[in-house]
Amino acid sequence: MFVFSIRALVIASLCFSLKAVAAPSEEKPPLLLISFDGFRWDYLTRAQLPNIERIIREGVHATEGVLVKNVVDTSTLPNHWTLVTGLYPESHGIIGNFLRDDDIDKKFIPKYINANYSNDPRYYDAGGEPIWVTNQFQGGRSGSVMWWGSENAVKWSRPTLQMPYDDNVNFTTRVDVMIEWLSQKYPVNLGLIYFFEPDHIAHTTGPESSNVTEAIKYTDVIVGYLLKRLKEKNLLGNINVIITSDHGMTGTSNETLIYLDDFINIEDYDILTGDTVIAHIFPHEGKLTKVYRSLEKASKQPNSHFKVFLSKDIPERFHMKNNPRVPPIVAFADIHYRHVSNASRGDHFPLAGTHGYDNEERDMRPFFIAMGPDFKKNFTVRSFNSVHIYPLMCQLLGIKPAPNNGSLTVVSHFLKDGVENATTFATYIFVLVVVNGAAGMFAVGFFRQHRNLKQRNVSMKLTSDDTRKRLKNTAS
Ligand SMILES: *[C@@H]1O[C@H](CO)[C@@H](O)[C@H](O)[C@H]1NC(C)=O
Ligand SMILES: *[C@@H]1O[C@H](CO)[C@@H](O)[C@H](O)[C@H]1NC(C)=O
Ligand SMILES: *[C@@H]1O[C@H](CO)[C@@H](O)[C@H](O)[C@H]1NC(C)=O
Ligand SMILES: *[C@@H]1O[C@H](CO)[C@@H](O)[C@H](O)[C@H]1NC(C)=O
Ligand SMILES: *[C@@H]1O[C@H](CO)[C@@H](O)[C@H](O)[C@H]1NC(C)=O
Ligand SMILES: *[C@@H]1O[C@H](CO)[C@@H](O)[C@H](O)[C@H]1NC(C)=O
Ligand SMILES: *[C@@H]1O[C@H](CO)[C@@H](O)[C@H](O)[C@H]1NC(C)=O
Ligand SMILES: [Zn+2]
Repeated sequence: MFVFSIRALVIASLCFSLKAVAAPSEEKPPLLLISFDGFRWDYLTRAQLPNIERIIREGVHATEGVLVKNVVDTSTLPNHWTLVTGLYPESHGIIGNFLRDDDIDKKFIPKYINANYSNDPRYYDAGGEPIWVTNQFQGGRSGSVMWWGSENAVKWSRPTLQMPYDDNVNFTTRVDVMIEWLSQKYPVNLGLIYFFEPDHIAHTTGPESSNVTEAIKYTDVIVGYLLKRLKEKNLLGNINVIITSDHGMTGTSNETLIYLDDFINIEDYDILTGDTVIAHIFPHEGKLTKVYRSLEKASKQPNSHFKVFLSKDIPERFHMKNNPRVPPIVAFADIHYRHVSNASRGDHFPLAGTHGYDNEERDMRPFFIAMGPDFKKNFTVRSFNSVHIYPLMCQLLGIKPAPNNGSLTVVSHFLKDGVENATTFATYIFVLVVVNGAAGMFAVGFFRQHRNLKQRNVSMKLTSDDTRKRLKNTAS
């Protein structure tokens, strides 16, 4: 009798498990994550932006931008990788736009320097699990239009569908590709799109220029185009969309340069790049103390405009210190300033805008807007750290996040029903108890364990089904 009851429970429990695992891709609306590079939080007020304003009205909006506290270096690669992993740079390993890793011989080159160059995947596969991998491991399909790092396999996995990085592909085409992926026979349930503006133009003309205002207006045009295409495919209203950015922007010029050659000898060190806000300095053998002392002395002069640290002394709040890629000496420029050094470039190039500064600088903060069936309407939030976006996205997709530095509780109030999963689970327990009476109570502990095991099997099955479909797609 008792054994029979346990068998009945196994079956009941299995049915529930199947349903719970199948839920992410089948029942949750798809999620779109969009990044407009260098879109500073206050650009929202620079012009009439009817489409963005619609999202603000119908969704969630951060008034002071995402406080990018997690992501010094406030640059493109570290921040994009934090958005998709929920990890601080010291934990995901992408500590700057340029990287040096003594365990990897092949040089790292960011795609915006050379889109054709393939980096060693170990640069990215260094601790973080990007959300497309998390999604695919749990039965979903992911598509990336040029998201930073997505061309590299992490845990042997690339996005299910992918458009490689190419600055020449215009912005409407990027949207069209994603619409196709969202509406095809085996649609993606997670899509990511990267746009390089308004970053590029602001580097050239400065963040306050009319050129940037035009680029901001064009951003709105692209958002409008996206909404229109989603509507055509009957997806609007049934898709969660997050639009954010990696960092802000501030003015700089050739009057605000820190000439490292004035303090340290070009023969004594290597530097990753010589026109930079955060200088990664690698002293040659035996020169560490000399280079550090000289820089430290210079930094203490009045109007020095930079601070220098040995790696172990980098402020904790930057979360960019506990990683073997952190160079022995790091110099941080004050806002508007940049380091230049003959050791790398020989000269500097003119820039009118840049980023990479302390995340406490308001100019470094990006924007955040979101809309969709799971988001509250016309809901305003103050600043929050961008590490929380990863667990938020996992919640929206109904998947279990990989270890990360974010916390769903910080952001769950953005959602209409932040406790939906807990409710579902409670209902499940309740049904079990009612159906099986006291025996059910006794067995719950046992079967929860069993269920976990089963879930793992089911999600492995879903993944391999997914792979089969993919192979089929590729073949046709
Ligand atoms: C990359 O490859 C494409 C096509 O093979 C070529 O047109 C382009 O010039 C290359 N770009 C660089 C930076 O080498
Ligand atoms: C974008 O590129 C596509 C394909 O090359 C082209 O058909 C389309 O007209 C372009 N759109 C814009 C706005 O330039
Ligand atoms: C910035 O805008 C001005 C005025 O419209 C224009 O003359 C200039 O070419 C633009 N600069 C760039 C880099 O696009
Ligand atoms: C600084 O920039 C201005 C305007 O772009 C230019 O006229 C000047 O020659 C530059 N000075 C130096 C030292 O590069
Ligand atoms: C660095 O480069 C500038 C411009 O090319 C040159 O004038 C200067 O002498 C160089 N300094 C050193 C220390 O090599
Ligand atoms: C949106 O919220 C603001 C402030 O919370 C309120 O003043 C406004 O009336 C709301 N708009 C709509 C359309 O509900
Ligand atoms: C961030 O998360 C990683 C992975 O769980 C962990 O190893 C690390 O200690 C966390 N960092 C902080 C500052 O909590
Ligand atoms: Zn930039």
